[in-house]
Amino acid sequence: MDTDVTISGMHDLVDWNRLADIFIHAHFATRLPADLQKAFTNSYACCFAFHIHNGCDGALLGAARAISDGVYYAVVLDVVVATEHQGHGVGRALMTALLEKLPLEKIYLTAPPDKQDFYKKLGFYKHNNTMARYAHPEAAFEQGVLSKREPWSLARLSRNFTGSKPSNNQMFE
Ligand SMILES: CC(C)(COP(=O)(O)OP(=O)(O)OC[C@H]1O[C@@H](n2cnc3c(N)ncnc32)[C@H](O)[C@@H]1OP(=O)(O)O)[C@@H](O)C(=O)NCCC(=O)NCCS
Repeated sequence: MDTDVTISGMHDLVDWNRLADIFIHAHFATRLPADLQKAFTNSYACCFAFHIHNGCDGALLGAARAISDGVYYAVVLDVVVATEHQGHGVGRALMTALLEKLPLEKIYLTAPPDKQDFYKKLGFYKHNNTMARYAHPEAAFEQGVLSKREPWSLARLSRNFTGSKPSNNQMFE
């Protein structure tokens, strides 16, 4: 890592307004600082990256969190690095520290196509039988994040599980 950074799990060091700004400037999401504080505080594991300044923890550079049952499963969420500090190993440091807190059987996350190689370098693979239920799915259908059609890989997976050959346009609904 070519930036002086320390990784901490301490919520009380976090400036939640600064984290909300990092989310916005990284074009990740628009979140209220109070909601971010609640979401991170209620998470199973959190990691925050701080710039080390004069030997002390300085500005917040990024964050990552996971929800989990603590035994079998975890979901990694809200991995973000301040735009001006991206590309210097901060994201990898955050994820490495977070994964050390998750010695579990299965760890899930979602990532857009242009971020998937970042996670591949950390041992993640594409997952072919995930489903999701959104309260407001319209935009996700439009973007192709949610799909009513069974993709080719799922058709093959279904055949492997059931031995039956699904029709080309088999629908979930
Ligand atoms: C994705 C993100 C967290 C990566 O953080 P980062 O600090 O820039 O990444 P790092 O510098 O630690 O990169 C670690 C490795 O992943 C690679 N990498 C980083 N982002 C990548 C991308 N989008 N595509 C492919 N490889 C990527 C780096 O080249 C580096 O590879 P190396 O170890 O072989 O040199 C950061 O770009 C970010 O916050 N983006 C905006 C928010 C976001 O989209 N978050 C992810 C939501 S799923």
